[in-house]
Amino acid sequence: MSQPSLSLVDTDPAELAVDAIVIGLHSQPDEGGALLPAAGAESIAAAFDGKLTSTLALLGASGAPGEVTKLATLGTISAPLVVAVGLGDEPSGSAPNLETLRRGTGAAVRSLAGSATVALALPLPDDEDAPSVLRAILEGALLGSYKFAGYKTKPQPNRRDPVSALQVHVPDASDAAAAAEVTRAETVSRAVRLTRDWVNTPPNMLRPPQFADAVVAAAKGTGLEVEVLDFDELKAGGYGGIVAVGQGSEAPPRLVKLTYTPEGVESPKRVALVGKGITFDTGGISIKPSAGMWEMKSDMAGAAAVGATMLAVAALKPRVAVSAYLAMAENMPSGTAYRPGDVITMFNGKRAEVYNTDAEGRMVLADAIARACADGTDYVFETSTLTGGQVISLGKRISGLMGSDDAVERVRRAGDEVGEPAWPMPLPDEVRKGMESDIADISQTNTSLDRAGHMLQGGVFLREFVAEGVEWAHIDIAGPSYHTGEPSGYWTKGGTGVPIRTLLSVIDQLG
Ligand code: BES
Ligand code: MN
Ligand code: ZN
Repeated sequence: MSQPSLSLVDTDPAELAVDAIVIGLHSQPDEGGALLPAAGAESIAAAFDGKLTSTLALLGASGAPGEVTKLATLGTISAPLVVAVGLGDEPSGSAPNLETLRRGTGAAVRSLAGSATVALALPLPDDEDAPSVLRAILEGALLGSYKFAGYKTKPQPNRRDPVSALQVHVPDASDAAAAAEVTRAETVSRAVRLTRDWVNTPPNMLRPPQFADAVVAAAKGTGLEVEVLDFDELKAGGYGGIVAVGQGSEAPPRLVKLTYTPEGVESPKRVALVGKGITFDTGGISIKPSAGMWEMKSDMAGAAAVGATMLAVAALKPRVAVSAYLAMAENMPSGTAYRPGDVITMFNGKRAEVYNTDAEGRMVLADAIARACADGTDYVFETSTLTGGQVISLGKRISGLMGSDDAVERVRRAGDEVGEPAWPMPLPDEVRKGMESDIADISQTNTSLDRAGHMLQGGVFLREFVAEGVEWAHIDIAGPSYHTGEPSGYWTKGGTGVPIRTLLSVIDQLG
């Protein structure tokens, strides 16, 4: 579904003729629990004659972060509905907490599905923090209104479509910096929504050839350079890992490369993005248990994120050269599938002994990382739904982060700022020691540790394929890339689009 239109307004929010108006509400536990309307809601509070917060409190509002309370305005202001979103305690500095604002805005806009036009009158500081606060509001609103179109054949009687138009109240609607944030948010949101769509698409409808076609179609007209390697070209090119994983499926693997070259920048920094694109992961011959296996349709979330990031890069035009490598395969058990015990020669010539065909991500990524390095790059940022160990150790919100110090610190800082936290994890020597193979250069997993520290084993394996002198980070998004359970904040069900906003911020910082 298309995203809502965005416009800036600077007229009095109390006079906006919209279906609903969203305001912020702070909790003030220290002062007898009285609630405080957030900045931006002044004229609405005034129209309620001092009774706005007490009425919201009667309706159960507490100002807790993310809480949404709706109040009919009965003619006090132009809009028939006020939606108060909890923003927690009033911040001591001038800028509100960005993630609280992002999540709250997302929750409020999502709760307004069924309304056509919604205005946002949320706190915007009048200083140098204004653009980042506005960015958080816009991203929260656009991402929170996402809904996967789905495949129902009959019209749904109670269907409430996402909000179609958003008006965002700012001090000056003709401000160029604010307009630039609108354009940026639309671009970023388009990328996140496309990734969510790809991740949510059923695995029978998005096998590697279709996924590659979809990426190529999306890149058309953007100015990105596109290269697609098919099965024969992958075999001929020495991409042993992608071939091994892909050979078990009737739907052959692909490697898609997208390239962005900045104009008028002399020897720009070079960044390679690498993504795992397993369109379905059965585990292969080392087959997974059937419970919950359907969720492995999201095993291409890394490639989806990296591909969509490139579309945003093409529009935002950073002063950095960026290439993306999307390693696509379907991991199936069959008479042609690769086996535990196989020795596979990767793109950089290193040989790996397979122990578990369910550790297929590192096989396809080894080739893609090695290819990225062979093309020449200063940084590799790779992201993948690599291990269940990430979910066990860090949960569903915080990605696992491994790599060289500079790249890791860049990802950690950016992730923190954009609300996509990633936590640095070690690459211990003893984990590498247990990956010695008797007959090949490395074994695919640590055979003595088995599943102990198994997120780290993934990182240690991938490190082998990063060329000397290249800064690199591996972002394990097994948990954060896919949201199960009810929608929350600006996270809707299914694909989340993590870590697109992190990658864009890292690229920005390098420019
Ligand atoms: N795609 C899975 C990892 C995964 C698990 C992603 C849960 C999202 C949610 C990956 O290919 C896999 O199967 N990893 C194995 C590695 C093991 C065989 C070394 C795992 O996590 O068990
Ligand atoms: Mn697997
Ligand atoms: Zn997998």
